[in-house]
Amino acid sequence: MTAPAAVDPLRHLFGLDGKRALVTGGTSGIGLMIARGLLQAGARVVVTSRKPRACDEAVEALSAFGPVSAVPADLARVEECDRLAEEVLGAEPALHILVNNAGATWGAPLASFPASAWDKVLTLNVMAPFWLLQALLPGLRAAASAEDPARVVNVGSMDAIRTPVFPTYSYSASKAAVHQLTRHLARDLGPDNITVNAVAPGPFPSRMMAVTLEEHGGAFAAASPLGRIGRADDMAGSVVFLVSRAASYVTGAVLPVDGGIATTATGM
Ligand SMILES: NC(=O)c1ccc[n+]([C@@H]2O[C@H](COP(=O)([O-])OP(=O)(O)OC[C@H]3O[C@@H](n4cnc5c(N)ncnc54)[C@H](OP(=O)(O)O)[C@@H]3O)[C@@H](O)[C@H]2O)c1
Repeated sequence: MTAPAAVDPLRHLFGLDGKRALVTGGTSGIGLMIARGLLQAGARVVVTSRKPRACDEAVEALSAFGPVSAVPADLARVEECDRLAEEVLGAEPALHILVNNAGATWGAPLASFPASAWDKVLTLNVMAPFWLLQALLPGLRAAASAEDPARVVNVGSMDAIRTPVFPTYSYSASKAAVHQLTRHLARDLGPDNITVNAVAPGPFPSRMMAVTLEEHGGAFAAASPLGRIGRADDMAGSVVFLVSRAASYVTGAVLPVDGGIATTATGM
């Protein structure tokens, strides 16, 4: 189907006018980059994270780009996922876009890697996106059509494609689970006209990556054939594509957004 005559064809393919999105962890780093991109493409955006102050600051920073609001919630608790979904769907029954971005990592030597680092990381990175999707399904179904499906984008990692450099055992395992959950859910939700895809970021500046990039930013940049780390536009553009009409026939995909670090590594 082609764009109606009066509509700019690029805006028809990539614009998000009239759509509403929820971005978890949308107050910092990659989530903030994604929220900004969705707003610039025309969506209304709700961001969420634990800290009310971070939510307020994100709304202040993002409101220059479009209509944005925030709901604080601790997604590591299933009842908080349910409450967030109730608030989001209580405000408006349809939700076109869910971006499961909130995440945590943990690094420790193998011999002393604590059991608590498995609980913390798997709960937030794997279980929370599943719980939230469950709770938001009525809203996604209400927004979905065969012509323009509702969208779920999970944030995985290049560390689930290649072997990680650092001892982040529960993190890389959690992101491999995110990639597989993406494919599993894509199969099950396709008949409901809901696509489920993932992005697998390489190094992007964020709170989580601040120390790592300070110490190893140069080495990460050198590992990319493009010779640099990720920029906000790289992440924004990839997710806007996945949730736009242009990607209506893309589901179950894991899109590396890593400057080729994982996809071109030779191991030599
Ligand atoms: N940056 C990278 O290089 C990179 C690479 C690959 C993958 N990723 C992935 O990208 C995603 C975002 O990470 P980032 O690097 O942008 O990190 P970040 O700057 O630390 O952001 C993490 C976000 O998640 C929120 N959050 C943390 N725990 C939460 C909880 N229990 N409930 C709700 N929200 C919570 C944080 O806000 P509060 O503290 O207010 O809760 C924050 O908004 C993660 O899934 C990460 O694994 C990042």
